[in-house]
Amino acid sequence: MAGFQESFDRLKRVGQEHLLHFYPTLEDKQRAALLAQIDSLEVESLPGLVERYVRNPAKQDPPSGLQPVDAYPHEAGSSRKPWDRAKYHQLGEQLLRTGKVAAFMVAGGQGSRLGYDGPKGCFRAGEVSRRSLFEFFGLGIRRAQQQYGKPVPWYIMTSPQNHASTQAYFSEHRSFGLDPANIMFFQQGMMPSFDIRSGKVLLARPDEVATNPDGHGGSIAALRNSGAIADMKRRGIAHLSYFQVDNPLVRTLDPVFLGLHAHAPDSSAEMSSKVIAKTNPEEKVGVFATVEKNGKRVVEVIEYSDFPAALAKERNADGSLRYNAGSIAVHVLAVSFLEKLASDPNFELPYHRAEKKVPCVDLQSGEQLVPTSNNGVKLEKFIFDAVPLCRASIVLETDRIEEFAPIKNASGVDSAESCAQIQTLRAVRWLDAIGIKAPRKMDGTPDCVLEIDPLHGAEPADLRERVQGLVINPGDRRVI
Ligand code: UTP
Repeated sequence: MAGFQESFDRLKRVGQEHLLHFYPTLEDKQRAALLAQIDSLEVESLPGLVERYVRNPAKQDPPSGLQPVDAYPHEAGSSRKPWDRAKYHQLGEQLLRTGKVAAFMVAGGQGSRLGYDGPKGCFRAGEVSRRSLFEFFGLGIRRAQQQYGKPVPWYIMTSPQNHASTQAYFSEHRSFGLDPANIMFFQQGMMPSFDIRSGKVLLARPDEVATNPDGHGGSIAALRNSGAIADMKRRGIAHLSYFQVDNPLVRTLDPVFLGLHAHAPDSSAEMSSKVIAKTNPEEKVGVFATVEKNGKRVVEVIEYSDFPAALAKERNADGSLRYNAGSIAVHVLAVSFLEKLASDPNFELPYHRAEKKVPCVDLQSGEQLVPTSNNGVKLEKFIFDAVPLCRASIVLETDRIEEFAPIKNASGVDSAESCAQIQTLRAVRWLDAIGIKAPRKMDGTPDCVLEIDPLHGAEPADLRERVQGLVINPGDRRVI
């Protein structure tokens, strides 16, 4: 590890030597920890990043030649782009039956909007069962293993901030019945957090640089650096089913999506994505579209803040939004694609800037500050920026109630409450499809709280035997 002078000189060259401001006042252990942390940061890249993203954040150029993406419609029989759901279901099942698929969950985020104390995956997303997000996914994976007779390895990205507590939670819950030998936790990288005005890196404490995880896009480097890609290759895994830690409705391993990704004629089988129809032009989700890049038409996700407002409002003849393909952060990624990207020395995903409240220490007074307005800038990479790097990338449209109820906020939109409502709506719909009526209120909304046990079913037909003769009374709360 570099000593004080070496670290100081290194920081001074990039205008960040204030990070050692409190060094003389620290105890030996704190000094060592601070120097080790500084050692681990790529400070040489800071001047360029500060200039580009903190001090002079350029407004993104409007995307060139924007066109709606040609998604596979949710209804396979749609005249817009008919496709054979049963065929791709079978092809996807084939991949699962031959052990070619692993699950890949990103769980390194800070979950600051939810404000939950602990890894977000420990949050109880089961309104009736009280089971955690992690358990929802674990049971979904267990079901796929039982159904297809092959282990499904589960790769979980954490950050240094929640790695140990995530692993401890899995141990306490005996990995939800999964074999721990098939679960690999690996940590993502950290980025320094910056003062919003000066671009100086903030100190979280006198002996600690303020840092944040480097975004879910940091997973590509982390998968390689941790040895996860090598592990996948040893196990013969070809594709990863990617999902985030906040959406308990996600189909952890969806054969139809896997089949389309790997075999659709317009897919390069490198990276594919799921989308849902946006509810309104202003909905705050990234939008899949195609753009012109280097003379080629590529699929790209455009953040809602960068999407031209006039285009967002355009409608088709049937009234639907022309740019309707809202991202739900569900992908399939080929291991070979990830390996190709991660081993290319020129590969780098762009950073995205987010203004946040970053607790920090005041350099002058040494006082600990808890900001009430945004004082900091965090830089993160996003996994969807890998989509335009594919030779060809397909997009599958799905249904919001079936697959998307993220828990992001403590209340309101995308909260535990809205998630529970959507879980009930989905359960009512599934029961309806197999001839069981759930009670409804006068306004047509369900008069019950229902939750589907991921171990029991991934689609309505799976529940048929289990629920024969089931009667649901008004006000019932049940796990099905
Ligand atoms: P979000 O964008 O919702 O961020 O992450 P977050 O950090 O969890 O929550 P806020 O913004 O602070 O409220 C979407 C998914 O990406 C993962 C999260 O764990 C979540 O599954 N993620 C995010 C990472 O794994 N690493 C990161 O650096 C950021």
